[in-house]
Amino acid sequence: MLQLPKVIGHRGAAAYAPENTLESFREARRRGATWVEIDVKLTADGVPIVMHDSSLKRTMGVDRLVAETPRADLPRDVPTFEEAIACFAELGLGCNVEIKPCEGREVETARVTVETLRRSWPAQLPPPLLSSFRAASLAAAREAAPEFARAILLDEIKDDWRQQAEAVGAVGVNTNGKRLTAPQAVEIRKAGYALSVYTIDDGDVARALIGMGVDCVITDAPDVILAAFN
Ligand code: G3P
Ligand code: MG
Repeated sequence: MLQLPKVIGHRGAAAYAPENTLESFREARRRGATWVEIDVKLTADGVPIVMHDSSLKRTMGVDRLVAETPRADLPRDVPTFEEAIACFAELGLGCNVEIKPCEGREVETARVTVETLRRSWPAQLPPPLLSSFRAASLAAAREAAPEFARAILLDEIKDDWRQQAEAVGAVGVNTNGKRLTAPQAVEIRKAGYALSVYTIDDGDVARALIGMGVDCVITDAPDVILAAFN
């Protein structure tokens, strides 16, 4: 069974530092997180980087698509996946690696992500958890590197959730904590899946979700959620 912490910092500690940056990972660690969640996609020249959006506009103020930008042209604050991993090694952080491909690059992004993990993931850290909204990415990850645990990412739990999980050999379900119902949580846990919810920044809501059987809360404010659990 997949071992997850109760709290994972979303994009680092996105409530306090620019999301998906090394600064954000350091902030998450300072605020007590032992794991972070990050989004990985590829540059124009196939380098895996840590970035949520398909464009650099919102977070970096540069009106350009990631898929059309070579690594050399990226703003300095955007870490490569390798740089992020080196930072996790330094800080002792585990990671939920969300494969977040640009349109049409689902398979390639998954393959490069797992190749990078195989090459660079530090042996002293807990094994990473892969997740994705894209079934094609999870299937490609499974084919290329079955040893990495996978979770399906679902904004909403529908009747076919288990089929989706089985189709990619997932051991976890990561879902929107604001939509998850108590019966759904019970069903998923009873079926033996690790259950994580995003993005919960309110301590009372997090406590209620844990009370429903949720294993792990992904949050922009890890200190707030950790304090709610103490
Ligand atoms: O992995 C949890 C969460 O990050 C999924 O949604 O859009 O924030 O990547 P998003
Ligand atoms: Mg994400």
